[in-house]
Amino acid sequence: MSEGIIQPDQPETLEGEGKDLFSKFDDIIALREGLLSSGQEDPFNLVMEKVLSPTRAICNGRETILLGTYNYMGMTFDPDVVEAGKQALADYGTGTTGSRVLNGTYQGHKECEQALKDFYGMDHAMVFSTGYQANLGIISTIAGKGDYIVLDIDSHASIWDGCAMGQAEVVPFKHNDIEAMEKRLKRIPEGAGKLVVLEGVYSMLGDVAPLKEMVAIAKKYGAMVLVDEAHSMGFIGENGRGVVEDTGVMDDVDFIIGTFSKSVGTVGGFCVSNHPKFEIMRLVCRPYVFTASLPPSVVATAEASIRKLMHGSNKRAHLWENSRSLHKGLKDLGFKLGTEEPQSAIIAVIMPDLEQGAQMWEALIQNGLYVNLARPPATPAGMTLLRCSLCAEHSEEEVGEILSIFEQSGRQVGII
Ligand SMILES: Cc1ncc(COP(=O)(O)O)c(C=O)c1O
Repeated sequence: MSEGIIQPDQPETLEGEGKDLFSKFDDIIALREGLLSSGQEDPFNLVMEKVLSPTRAICNGRETILLGTYNYMGMTFDPDVVEAGKQALADYGTGTTGSRVLNGTYQGHKECEQALKDFYGMDHAMVFSTGYQANLGIISTIAGKGDYIVLDIDSHASIWDGCAMGQAEVVPFKHNDIEAMEKRLKRIPEGAGKLVVLEGVYSMLGDVAPLKEMVAIAKKYGAMVLVDEAHSMGFIGENGRGVVEDTGVMDDVDFIIGTFSKSVGTVGGFCVSNHPKFEIMRLVCRPYVFTASLPPSVVATAEASIRKLMHGSNKRAHLWENSRSLHKGLKDLGFKLGTEEPQSAIIAVIMPDLEQGAQMWEALIQNGLYVNLARPPATPAGMTLLRCSLCAEHSEEEVGEILSIFEQSGRQVGII
């Protein structure tokens, strides 16, 4: 190192060497090493060696009950859905090798969009390669410089990234706080473009948004409304259309965003809308235009699954039973939960801290149960959570087994 060249306030780097761009990750590297140094199984590196059904897999050599897949309606092994995928693979090949606006729109993409229009009873549907891209694309394209986006502080990363990409003014409000939302809307300059972004179910705590009140306020202030129904599609609402259906605001929202990676059981994302100019999005939305479209087998499975979800009322009823009995069982065992009552198919178990959360996660996996460990910054208020997502294919007996494993593991770790 050449002493004279480096000023005291400059980072210490060797001459001819830049700053290591990875240094910004040192804290998280240290946190992870600290956690794993005790021999703890890595909660973020689990391998599903064999998947036996929507609710069971072999993980780390053990048969494991799956309670962290977001496979709410259990469609991943539905025989009609699997068959549709196989047929499309045989008929159209493995991939489209192209963008939707060039060579990447096949008959299957249009049929999948028709299934979405039928499912929601809306005029337009646009399929993206993921739900992340649907939020990124729609939000960044409709709200740009000079426009305002009012959103819940606990919004999903894809929503925040869409806001950042579009460069609109971002005005967050406290989670699910109706008054705070109205205050923010009131302050936006007259005549400015306004978009309110909400989620039906918030995935960290599994709580629902008060959409009836919030959508009414958004409309009062002349804002457009986008609702992300990733965690409610297929399950919540009489026809599984989500919290918008359940709260009676279907006709008042401008855009519904969703994903195929949860209830639909495959991969992909979408936006449905009744806006008369919506189709122009296909030409101006960069995360739609500048990426390859979904493989034909994927859109075929999505279409088959969406059409079956329209008639899924028995499954929805069983999933509600599962949600209620798991919530009650965990509460009775003395666990602290994210919501007082079950509001969705997600039940969040609040851990005292990251260390005990990781220990509990490990005890659960060793006793044959997989849940998601969630920690800050992804979680609200710095919480460590064990997130449980139920499936309509979990039997009543399996829910009983899940509760026994929670009890055994909780006692082992000393949390209950
Ligand atoms: C609320 C919400 N929106 C969007 C997404 C993104 O969906 P996808 O997995 O299809 O990218 C997720 C996924 O976790 C989500 O939770």
